[in-house]
Amino acid sequence: MVLHHGEGVKSTRLLRGPPSPIRPPKGDACGVGATPGDLGPYVVRDPAGRLADVSRICIPYGTTEGQTAKIAEYVADVVREHGHEARAVDLKDAGEDVLAGCDAVILGSSIHMGKHDKHVGDLVRKNRAALERLPSALFSVSLAAHGDTHEAETYVEEFEEETGWRPSMVALFSGALLYTQYGFLKRHMMKRIARGKPGDLGTDTSRDYVYTEWDGVRRFAEDFLDGLAPDTGGTQQ
Ligand SMILES: Cc1cc2nc3c(=O)[nH]c(=O)nc-3n(C[C@H](O)[C@H](O)[C@H](O)COP(=O)(O)O)c2cc1C
Repeated sequence: MVLHHGEGVKSTRLLRGPPSPIRPPKGDACGVGATPGDLGPYVVRDPAGRLADVSRICIPYGTTEGQTAKIAEYVADVVREHGHEARAVDLKDAGEDVLAGCDAVILGSSIHMGKHDKHVGDLVRKNRAALERLPSALFSVSLAAHGDTHEAETYVEEFEEETGWRPSMVALFSGALLYTQYGFLKRHMMKRIARGKPGDLGTDTSRDYVYTEWDGVRRFAEDFLDGLAPDTGGTQQ
């Protein structure tokens, strides 16, 4: 599914949509009392058999220049608008137990030199079982997502191979060229790279270019929440 936004640029791509719907593993959960289209509450049964709302969505992210942080905070705002709790956490500052208490995880990572953020890879390798048990999604932030989605998809495929984690939902978001924040060498390297890449990337180093399509980010967050919609009696996957 490709979402077109803004000036018709294919910069937000949903690689993999929510399963229909995302459900916790069989036996862990049951949905009750909601009508189709109602976002919640999604209800799980905890180990003691009590019912509790799924409301704590964790949004850990790895960023270098800060654009992924902005996207993660925006995702958190959308989640909160829909009545859930959301916590966006920079993995540089996070402890070991970053996923403790999470009912669902939306993991964000920027791309540098063709790779996802190291902290994100480490988190996935250490917490793969939890990520496979919980409803989870990945958003990958790069310049390739703006004009070279094949390359952006390749980054994700390589990340999945390296970590062994295959998130049920993946989105590719265009990042930013923040020339005014880069040091001298980085600024000139990025200008050279921008010239050679598809997507008509900006090369005026006296200003910044933000390519993130915020409508697409909102749609991704809302699709994820839709995937948490209560089980109305279908077969569990
Ligand atoms: C040094 C450097 C290397 C980058 N390498 C890539 C790359 O290999 N592929 C790509 O698509 N984007 C690349 N980018 C673009 C970043 O993914 C983009 O700027 C993104 O917004 C960075 O996210 P962050 O601000 O959260 O770190 C690079 C950016 C920088 C500054």
